[in-house]
Amino acid sequence: MGTRTADGAAQADGAARAGAAAQPGAAAQAAEARGPALPDGLAGLDGEAGLLEVVVARRTPVADGVLALELARIDGRPLPPYRPGSHVDLHLGNGQVRQYSLCGDPADTSRYRLGILRTADSRGGSRHVHTRIREGLFLLMSPPKNNFPLVADAPRSVLFAGGIGVTPLLAMARELARLDRSFEVHYRARDRGRLAFAPELTELAGPGRVTCYTDDAAGGAADFDAEAVIRRAGPGAHVYMCGPRGFMDHVAAAAGRAGVPAELLHEENFTNDVDLTGTPFTVVAARSKVTARVEADRTIAETLRDHGVAVRTSCGTGVCGTCLTAVLRGEPDHRDVFQSPAQQRANTAVTLCCSRSRTPELVVDL
Ligand code: FES
Repeated sequence: MGTRTADGAAQADGAARAGAAAQPGAAAQAAEARGPALPDGLAGLDGEAGLLEVVVARRTPVADGVLALELARIDGRPLPPYRPGSHVDLHLGNGQVRQYSLCGDPADTSRYRLGILRTADSRGGSRHVHTRIREGLFLLMSPPKNNFPLVADAPRSVLFAGGIGVTPLLAMARELARLDRSFEVHYRARDRGRLAFAPELTELAGPGRVTCYTDDAAGGAADFDAEAVIRRAGPGAHVYMCGPRGFMDHVAAAAGRAGVPAELLHEENFTNDVDLTGTPFTVVAARSKVTARVEADRTIAETLRDHGVAVRTSCGTGVCGTCLTAVLRGEPDHRDVFQSPAQQRANTAVTLCCSRSRTPELVVDL
């Protein structure tokens, strides 16, 4: 999951996260290995590596193929505060970790709410959530991370949601309404049964601010004209989008035609179909004093772990930024969607889970 903004501050933040990526990954793996049901003695203690131990307090179907999960701390203490656009890494208890946006009310830290669509995800994460995760189950979860921050004082904001991509935008709409800012939401889904959280969104945003488009409604997809919406919003409007890749490409193209500058365009990615293979090269973990050959079918993260270097990963596909690490020498072959194109061109950081090297040797700060 990543936000494509072109500002240097985001890059600096990314570099700071690189330090976090250098923390020992073994603790996180040990916490994961404990599985979904934690021993009684651990109740109330947060997991190693800063993971939170939570219980599924509520599991509710909210649309066709969409579940809302409410998660609370096992001991009833408040969860960490978060800002709209934040997500958590949810450890599913089967070895998989998935990123989900927080779509509840940030003012309520007694629970987090996630919205999870069952997809034909070949890796099976959403299927596991829908078939195995029940109320009362204990899970591990990261603290909130925000790669998709809201510029709350923008003169105007336009939020584009595609399907389950509504979840972070729901939290943003709640905040913009609370601050009485000028904003509108355009929500596209295949049919009305898939418009998760639409009544709640419409109510919290207020009259005239939410427009839904479905193929089974009059006008349907034909009424969805992102370029016209953006042009109407005028110069200076910030544009946010979250949804399937094709939807975001469509909105990004519309924003480009409407002349929206990169720094006003914000997107959240949930998936990245990435090719992890390529030409072999040498990776050097400078602080660990480890030099290793990354074979054509191995990742940097796997290779360094094979040589005893702790590398923390989460999504494994260049989406979340957990493994982002500073580059000391060499030119990465970026395969992630976490960094913006400008950040990638700077070549100051690399995602170790999926990216490779354009130079025979890549030296990283690990
Ligand atoms: S682990 Fe998510 S970007 Fe590498």
